[in-house]
Amino acid sequence: MNLFRTKSIEQMRAAAENSGMAKTLGAFDLILLGIGCVIGTGIFVLTGVAAAKYAGPAVTISFILSGLACALAGLAYAEFSSIVPASGSAYTYTYASLGEFIAFIVGWNLILEYTVTASAVASGWSGYVTGLLQSAGIEVSHALTHVPADGGIINVPAILITLLLTFFLIRGTQESTKLNRILVFIKLAAVFIFLLLAGPHVNTANWEPFMPFGASGIAAGAAIVFFAYIGFDAVATSAEECKNPSRDLPIGIIGSLVVCTALYVIVAGVLTGVVPYTELNNPEPVAFALRYIGYNLGSAVVGVGAIAGITTVLLVLLYGQARIFFAMSRDGMVPARVCKIHKRYHTPYIVTVLGAIFVSLIAGFAPIGLIAEMANIGTLSAFLVAAIGVMVLRITKPDVPRAFRCPLVWLIAPLAVLACGYLMAHLPLDTWIRFLVWCAFGCLVYFGYSYQHSTVGIQQRKIRKLKKLRTDA
Ligand code: ALA
Repeated sequence: MNLFRTKSIEQMRAAAENSGMAKTLGAFDLILLGIGCVIGTGIFVLTGVAAAKYAGPAVTISFILSGLACALAGLAYAEFSSIVPASGSAYTYTYASLGEFIAFIVGWNLILEYTVTASAVASGWSGYVTGLLQSAGIEVSHALTHVPADGGIINVPAILITLLLTFFLIRGTQESTKLNRILVFIKLAAVFIFLLLAGPHVNTANWEPFMPFGASGIAAGAAIVFFAYIGFDAVATSAEECKNPSRDLPIGIIGSLVVCTALYVIVAGVLTGVVPYTELNNPEPVAFALRYIGYNLGSAVVGVGAIAGITTVLLVLLYGQARIFFAMSRDGMVPARVCKIHKRYHTPYIVTVLGAIFVSLIAGFAPIGLIAEMANIGTLSAFLVAAIGVMVLRITKPDVPRAFRCPLVWLIAPLAVLACGYLMAHLPLDTWIRFLVWCAFGCLVYFGYSYQHSTVGIQQRKIRKLKKLRTDA
């Protein structure tokens, strides 16, 4: 068995060069792209959960820790994506460096990341829509808007938004840069309105005790709020479309991380300064905080902004999930049938619908905190492997052209591995068990199907047969 067979970088580069993508993105576009993919349920919902359950007001420090881990991983990731600018992100990069089996597991975990992240984002969307309807005086059934763990039966709005966006995706709706700019603006406006209204009401007494759960609480909080940064890697995958990747990519990645970290820290500080952290474990903490201090209209406006922002993140995630599946099916890792393209709309409709069914089931029945933890462990594992892959490629393929080289790679990449590992280590045991079960299931799929059907494997078998025929002759 050859579990470490790799895909040729040269072949992938040739395919990417023939893709004819326009090089139009500058550093500013990349920063906006990053903010567009990143700000969503994490800041609007999970800040409250993390403050109430894990870190208290020190959730601000959790955000800084997580942001640092992302910056390290992001730089390594950017070098990887500039060597192998093909779709499929960390899965594809790993296939070129660490070989097929590890690549499969990374791809398998990316599917987990996208599926569960989308579910958590759909839950966040539901929380804000329900809150908005209630503050408009419209009665909403608790049973139909909450999952069983929160005293309900099923989260219907989360399912509806997933199905609606899936419909748009199948019809071929693509986010244009212009639409992204508008939605980023609305999202940021919501954040700034919140800060303007709530800022003057901060009561520093609410920051006492600052670290009610100690240093380990801060680390556990960082492992949760890492969710708020998921999506920034989308910036790293745009190397082929950048005007000047070696300059713009690091500015785009670090720039969007700095903007997001600053906003997250300030929002978290104001939120915990306005409402005692013990009351923040609710589905729409930012809007709740405004109602808490009497701004009902402001709360509604911020709620609408949050809903708009969360919707784009969900759209990007559902789209990304289908893209990873697609890359894996092209390599024979999952059956090609599931990635069939729709005759009329030219989109991979079967995999999009399948993905939506899973997202709906998870969002409809599982609590958001648990889902976010699963999303984080999947993403962190992919980042960790990507950082190792970058070092491996520096040794095995030192001369391959790199549009972007990670600065101080022998310091940054090992630190990225440590930082991701550290955050993973602070996720709860249950999450680890679910994650390992998911990986074990992945191994079954790999050895039961993918190993035999891998296009690289089939090619290698053909070459071996030809060589044997030649020697026999
Ligand atoms: N970072 C994204 C969010 O917070 C996934 O919604």
